[in-house]
Order: sequence, then C-alpha cells, then structure tokens
Amino acid sequence: MHIVVFGASGPTGRQLTDQALAAGHRVTAVARRPQAVPPRAGLTVQAADATDPDAVDAAVAGADAVLSALGATPGRKPVTVYSAGATNILAAMRRQGVRRLVAVSSSAVDPAWRPSGEFLFNHLLDPYVNRVIARTAHQDMRRMEAVLRASDLDWTIARPSALFDHPVVTGYRHAEESADGLYTARADLAASMLSQLTDDRYLRRAMGVITTDVRPTLRQLLRGNSGKG
Ligand SMILES: NC(=O)c1ccc[n+]([C@@H]2O[C@H](COP(=O)([O-])OP(=O)(O)OC[C@H]3O[C@@H](n4cnc5c(N)ncnc54)[C@H](OP(=O)(O)O)[C@@H]3O)[C@@H](O)[C@H]2O)c1
Repeated sequence: MHIVVFGASGPTGRQLTDQALAAGHRVTAVARRPQAVPPRAGLTVQAADATDPDAVDAAVAGADAVLSALGATPGRKPVTVYSAGATNILAAMRRQGVRRLVAVSSSAVDPAWRPSGEFLFNHLLDPYVNRVIARTAHQDMRRMEAVLRASDLDWTIARPSALFDHPVVTGYRHAEESADGLYTARADLAASMLSQLTDDRYLRRAMGVITTDVRPTLRQLLRGNSGKG
C-alpha cells in the first residue's frame, strides 16, 4: 500500500512512518519541516503545510490511504489545524480518488470519557488539563470530528488517551467512541491506526485506543508530553 502520513515530524507520525515501512508499505511522510523527517528506504518526504490546500492535494496524489497525526501545542490561542487539515485532506482525497483516512483526535473529546479508578485525574487534573490548558485544541478536534462525520469517504477517528512514548507495540485495547483507560502509548496508537487500513470495524466511527500492559512513569509523561492535548 502507498500510505501518506500527515504530522510525520511529530512523535506519533514517526511511529506511523516507522511501523508502515516495517510492514512493507510505501510511505509519503508529509511535514511542514521536511528536514525533521530522517530519510529512509521506501520513504518519500513531502513538504506541505496542512493548511495549504494545493500542497495537501499534491501530497495525497497516488495514495491508497491517508493517516493523520496532525496536532497543535495547546495554549490559549485559537487552534485550527485539526479542522483545517481535515477539510483540506478530505477535499484532496476526493479530488485524487483516495477513500481511506484515519485521523487522530482524543478521548477527551468524548464527554462520557471518565477512566475508571483514576480519581486524581477525573477530579483534579481533567478539569484543569482538558477544560483549561487544552480547551482550544479540543474545540478544534470537535470541529475536525464534525468535518469527518459529514464526509461519505471511509474515515475513522482514532481517540487516544494521554500519550507517552514506549519502544514497542503492546497488547493495546480499543473500543467504540472511547476506551476505559488513561494512557496510550504512541506505538500502540500507530499500530491501531495502521490496523484500520485492513479492518472495517470502525469505518465511519470513532475508535478509542488505550494501553493496559504498561503504565508510563511521571517522567515519561512529562518528557514526551508537555501539556499536549
Ligand atoms: N499528548 C497527548 O497526551 C494527547 C492525547 C490525546 C490526543 N493527542 C493528539 O495526538 C496527536 C499526536 O500527538 P503527538 O504528541 O504524537 O504529536 P505532536 O507533537 O502533537 O505533533 C503534531 C504534528 O503535527 C504537525 N503540524 C502541526 N501543524 C501543522 C501544519 N499546519 N502543517 C503540517 N504539519 C503540522 C507538527 O509539525 P511540526 O513538527 O512542524 O510542528 C507535528 O508533526 C495530536 O493530534 C494530539 O493532539 C495527544
């Protein structure tokens, strides 16, 4: 398969690229800073800002499927990259005759998501992290999800919980809408997204993804995740 990865310079995008190449796919890594993506056999690096429709169109040409790990650093400023990126990617896919898209959102976008046994998170951290620090990012993730849900292309929304770096794929779990757990390893998120390219279970649905085999240390969480949504 020829897979196009948006957000390829970010840590989840790197996992998507590495895992797709390891599985024998041809990969186009799309980044606004192409120098941030190390060259490898089987990999084409394409410079494109996701907010530029023509650049996105050129990046999507010839793809069998598109994966998006686009994201913004949460802050007080309005965020538009999720919805603008999804709008441009879907329009480009339609023009180029590409149907399959898996795009990253967040468990926090599901209003019913309250991971079991996580009292500290649910009562202290969540109201602050998700309702204050990441509020504008989550607002735009909701807009992105609405853009995807309005499309008749073959989309899946991937909703991870708090992301952390772990070197290998573990026995992750997935569930419709969101999964009952606080943490998701980026390797597991990437593996779950790639698995959807040959699986229709979450076609035009949201898939929650969590990691249960390992739990991040506080250091791991802070190092790979400075307040991101
Ligand atoms: N951190 C968490 O706990 C958490 C929880 C749930 C969901 N998420 C979501 O999971 C996804 C992956 O997160 P992550 O921490 O692995 O990656 P990340 O650090 O958020 O990386 C985001 C990627 O998007 C790219 N990007 C941003 N704006 C762009 C634009 N206009 N054009 C092209 N590329 C653009 C960035 O490129 P540059 O390198 O050029 O900036 C980077 O490659 C994000 O959507 C994030 O919101 C995160």
